Amino acid sequence: MHRQSFWCTVMVEQPRYTPVELIRLTAEYFKTKNVDAPRLEAEVLLAHLLEVDRLRLYLDFDKPLTQDEVAGYRVLVRRRASGEPTAYICAKREFWSLEFEVCPGVLIPRPETEVLVERALEVMGETGEFLEVGVGSGAISTALMKERGGWRGAGVEISAEAEIVAARNIAKHGLGGRYELFSGNLYGPVVGRVFNVIVSNPPYIPSGEIEGLEREVSEHEPRLALDGGEDGLEIIRRLAEGAAPHLEKGGHIMVEFGAGQGGAVKRIFEETNKFDQVELLRDYSGRDRILRARQS
Ligand SMILES: C[S@@+](CC[C@H](N)C(=O)[O-])C[C@H]1O[C@@H](n2cnc3c(N)ncnc32)[C@H](O)[C@@H]1O
Repeated sequence: MHRQSFWCTVMVEQPRYTPVELIRLTAEYFKTKNVDAPRLEAEVLLAHLLEVDRLRLYLDFDKPLTQDEVAGYRVLVRRRASGEPTAYICAKREFWSLEFEVCPGVLIPRPETEVLVERALEVMGETGEFLEVGVGSGAISTALMKERGGWRGAGVEISAEAEIVAARNIAKHGLGGRYELFSGNLYGPVVGRVFNVIVSNPPYIPSGEIEGLEREVSEHEPRLALDGGEDGLEIIRRLAEGAAPHLEKGGHIMVEFGAGQGGAVKRIFEETNKFDQVELLRDYSGRDRILRARQS
């Protein structure tokens, strides 16, 4: 059979495919559609359809799928091949080894952002209160509270859709009693409140670059989560300028930023004259990714 045409046939007939065979054919089809990690994606989608974990697919390697299962898989495969991210198809994504619900109104949490969690934990002692600006799925706040049982958190989110999903994720992980979630713009909902730590993974893509991103991002992820204005730094500027009244003396603000933005982000924080330490921290690929500033 011509591999590329496998998933293009109108009706999938005999032979009855085993999981391993379907995964192999799908991975080849995904390659022709420039899907990253094609085999992994094929496995994740099949495991999602059959409601089993990925390992189970290989334990049941010789058990053919029913025609209904193959037809259901075909729908998922075609959605992925057309550019829809697997996390949205499966409505979930893992972050910090925890499962989070996601949907198209909510940014898919990225593994790189785990560095922000790690570096924030370094400055979080036994107890305290943190603020997250731009909560999205709630992944960062949830990870911080899971790791620091003595901390309370507050989060601000401008997107109503993301706020609903974050509330569900935080509740699912049993953390609702230690977290306040606010709807609003930047520091607006927390006027008069002071925190030990502020974290944010804000939108930081320059507006004009969004269309040129991979289609999974540009066509599917929420613009509100990506668009950092003309130079990508508009939200970061407002985070830096507004932080001081919300941070205790010696408290830290930590902000994720994009490739090549480190120098400009550092200057933005230094020019506020509110911080006595401003440093750039690297991710595992050695790239500057996090700004950490200490309130003087
Ligand atoms: C890059 S996403 C990060 C989401 C999540 N924290 C994560 O790391 O996966 C940025 C988030 O900030 C939210 N956001 C954008 N502008 C905002 C603003 N002015 N005030 C509050 N939240 C904002 C977006 O809706 C989005 O959920």
